[in-house]
Amino acid sequence: MQVTKDARTIVDVVDFHKSYDGRSVLSGVNLRVERGEHLSILGPGGCGKSTLLKGLLGLVAPDKGSVTLFGKNLQTLGSEERNALLRRVGMAFQLGALFDFMTVRENILFAMENMTSLSAYDMEERVHRMLASVNLPAAARKLPSELSGGMRRRVGIVRALATSPDLALLDEPTAGLDPVTSAVVISMIHKLAAEIGSSLVCVTSSVEVAFTFAPRVAILNEGRLIAKGTWEELHNLHDPWITHFLDVRGYKPNQSTEQEASNYA
Ligand SMILES: Nc1ncnc2c1ncn2[C@@H]1O[C@H](COP(=O)(O)OP(=O)(O)OP(=O)(O)O)[C@@H](O)[C@H]1O
Ligand SMILES: [Mg+2]
Repeated sequence: MQVTKDARTIVDVVDFHKSYDGRSVLSGVNLRVERGEHLSILGPGGCGKSTLLKGLLGLVAPDKGSVTLFGKNLQTLGSEERNALLRRVGMAFQLGALFDFMTVRENILFAMENMTSLSAYDMEERVHRMLASVNLPAAARKLPSELSGGMRRRVGIVRALATSPDLALLDEPTAGLDPVTSAVVISMIHKLAAEIGSSLVCVTSSVEVAFTFAPRVAILNEGRLIAKGTWEELHNLHDPWITHFLDVRGYKPNQSTEQEASNYA
């Protein structure tokens, strides 16, 4: 297949199946993400959101189906080619996944050293600038164990974006944060992503977060992505489960998106 860096579809998940111990978690997920897209993937707790994100990175291999990233099928790549491809992706894991024995600065530098060709000076400058942008100007020399859960989450987001990835995957980026910090973190992600030009995928079980994060949303339920579109399109599907899920979690149709986003901010 001819692969160009500028191919429009950067993620193409086809019929992704995954079971654990005979229990199906993902049963035929199909998902496309276009270059430049900002997408929320929304679903109830335990529905397979983190498994799907790990599938996009090749950390979870599908029992059946395929994941194509930037036009290349992850399952058929050799390890060298796969690693080169994954350098274009930043991932903020649900639990932070920082190295405990490294300072915050070292955690972020480690990602940049492995995934970019920036100079040492540029890397240092970026660490300090990005930490300041998430209101953690003094955290560089701290160990993760010296930070709160919310601070660690923000460091995880900085680490994911510090490498200027073409695609950033964010797993519950604001879980456990208070509403004000949550809004600050989402706007910080948007700002950093705009500077870099990254495409963004955020998985969350919070309608508020999903709504504030992206104008388009995909709904994951019972192992399948059952719908994808703008919020208005989803509402207009009149699917009883989707409508109920959105209503219960606080989505109110007939408000302008800006109005609604500011309500959640
Ligand atoms: N490595 C694993 N081994 C066995 N079961 C697993 C594994 N990873 C995930 N699961 C199971 O798969 C299901 C989906 O897990 P996953 O973490 O993907 O859900 P989630 O939607 O991210 O949940 P949450 O909203 O709580 O973060 C859960 O029942 C979980 O117990
Ligand atoms: Mg999860």
